[in-house]
Amino acid sequence: MLFAALSLLLVTGISCRKSPASPTGLVTEKAMVVSAREEASAIGVEILREGGNAFDAMVATELALAVAYPYAGNLGGGGFMVYRKSNGDVGALDYREKAPLSATADMYLDSLGNVIPGLSTRGATAVGVPGTVAGVFEVHEKMGSLPLEKLLEPVIALAERGVIVTENQENRLERYRDQIIEISGEETFFFTKCRVGDTLKYPSLANTLRRIKNNGRDEFYKGETAKKLAAFIQERGGYLTEEDLAKYQAVWRQPVIFNYKDLRIISMSPPSSGGVTINQIFKMIEPYDIGDYEHNSGEAIQLLTESFRRAYADRNFYLGDPDFVEIPLDFLLKEDYLHQRMSDFTFDKATKSESVSHGTVEILESAETTHYSIVDEMGNAVSVTTTLNGAYGSKLYCDELGFFLNNEMDDFSSKPGTPNMFGLIGAEANSIAPEKRMLSSMTPTIVEKDGKLWLVVGTPGGSTIITAVAQTILNTYEFNLSMQEAVEAPRFHHQWLPDYIIFEPDGFPEETKEFLRSKGYLINEERTPVIGKVDAIRILPDGRMEGGADPRGDDTAVGY
Ligand code: GLY
Repeated sequence: MLFAALSLLLVTGISCRKSPASPTGLVTEKAMVVSAREEASAIGVEILREGGNAFDAMVATELALAVAYPYAGNLGGGGFMVYRKSNGDVGALDYREKAPLSATADMYLDSLGNVIPGLSTRGATAVGVPGTVAGVFEVHEKMGSLPLEKLLEPVIALAERGVIVTENQENRLERYRDQIIEISGEETFFFTKCRVGDTLKYPSLANTLRRIKNNGRDEFYKGETAKKLAAFIQERGGYLTEEDLAKYQAVWRQPVIFNYKDLRIISMSPPSSGGVTINQIFKMIEPYDIGDYEHNSGEAIQLLTESFRRAYADRNFYLGDPDFVEIPLDFLLKEDYLHQRMSDFTFDKATKSESVSHGTVEILESAETTHYSIVDEMGNAVSVTTTLNGAYGSKLYCDELGFFLNNEMDDFSSKPGTPNMFGLIGAEANSIAPEKRMLSSMTPTIVEKDGKLWLVVGTPGGSTIITAVAQTILNTYEFNLSMQEAVEAPRFHHQWLPDYIIFEPDGFPEETKEFLRSKGYLINEERTPVIGKVDAIRILPDGRMEGGADPRGDDTAVGY
C-alpha cells in the first residue's frame, strides 16, 4: 500500500517535472530564425525557404544584422558559432577579433603603469582585427549549400531599401549620439537625429557588401576594403594595418561538451569563457536539485549565486586564448574539483568573495553584443553570438565603408588585476600579445535532451551572458517554463567581484531580497540593468519548434 502510494507520488512527481510546458512563443512546423531584428530573422528564413540550410541562413542573418542592428551586428567585429548538424555532429567556429601585430602588453598603460582611460574602449586605438567576414566565408565554404551571391543579395537589398527605426533604436541612437559624434566627427552618418518610423538607408554598406559579393573574402582582408579600412584606422592613431587584415583567419574549435542530468550541453570553448564557466556552474549545482526550489526563490538564487561566484573566480584567473596560454581544462572541469569548490557552501549564509579570491572593483558600464538561433528543415542547428563589444563598438564609424569598428581590445586585461568595462578583473592569461584573441563571455549554446536536439540559446550582455544563458536553460529544464516564458523571466547576476547580486528592475519581490540580505548577501540596488536579450529555440516533443524572442529588445522569431 505504502509502496503503491510512493510509486504514484514518484510517477506523478516525475511526470510533472518531465511533461514539457506548453509553448507560449511562436510555434512553427519546419524552420525558425530568432534574432535581434525582424528584418534579419526574415532574411534568414527567406534563405531557408529557398532551400538553404542553417549555415546559409547563418551567413545571411549575420550580415543582415550588420545592416539592421548596427548597435552590435557587424562587419567590424567578430563572434562565435556553435553548431549541431542533423546527424548529431557538433563543432564550433571562432571568428573572434585578435590583437594587431604591433600590440604590446602595456599598450594601454601610462609611464606609471596605470590604465589610460578610454584608450581601449573608444576610437581607433581600441580596435581589434575584425573576424566576421572571415567567419561567414568559413561557414559558407565548409557547410553552405547555396551560392554566396544568393545569400548576399537580400542583405544588399535591405541596406539599399533601408531599415525602419524602432523606438528602441531611436533611444539607443539618442543615448550614444554624442559619443559617436565625438569619436567619428560631425560628418558622420549618425549625426542626423533619427526618429521612430524614419527609414535609414546604408548605401556605403551596400557598396562594401557588393564588393565582397563580387570579389569574395579577400575583398575585406586584402582588397580595396582592406586598404581603406587600414588607412582609416591609422589616420586616427589606431594600430590595425593591412598586414593584420591579410593575416586574419577564423579557427574551428572543439566545443565544450558536458552532461547535466539527462541533458548534453554543447557550448563555446576558449577564447570564450562561456562554455567552461557554464560547465562549471551546472556541475556545481547538479548535486543540489535546484528544481526542488521555487523558480527565482531565495534558495534557488543563493545556490546559483554561489556557483556563479566560484566559476567567475576561476574564469578570470585561468582563461585566455588557448593558442597562447595553457588552460588546465581537465582540472577546471573535473567533477571532484567542482564539488570540492562548493564544499564550503551552506544555505545558512553567503560565502564572501574574498575567501574565494581577492580584489575590489566596480562595474563601470553595461555592454552589448547580439545573439541569434537557427534551426532548419533538416534539423541542423546554429547558435551564434557576434559583437562589436560595447554599444556601437568603439563608436568609430567608417562612413566610406558603412560600418562601426569594434572596441574588443578592452576584453583583454590591460593591466592584470584592474577591471575592464564589464567590471571583470582579468589575469595574466588574458594579457595582451600580438595576434592573441581576447577572452570573451559569449556563450552560444546548443542543448540535447535524450540524444536529440532540444534547445538553441544565447544572449548578449557582456559578463552577464553566461549567467543569463544558464538561467534560461534552467528555466525550461528545471522550472518547466515554455521557451518564451524562460526568455522573459526576470534575471539576476553575480560575477565573484564586485561581491554583490544585481537584479533586473521590478522582477524580484522585496521579501526575496530581504531573505538574501538576511543571509549576508549584498544587493546593488542602484544598478538594476536589463540582463541579456536571449534569443532561443526549443524543439517540442512533436518536432515543431517554439521561439523565445526577448521582449527586452526588438527581437523577433520568424519561421514556417
Ligand atoms: N565583448 C563581449 C564578449 O566577448 O564577451
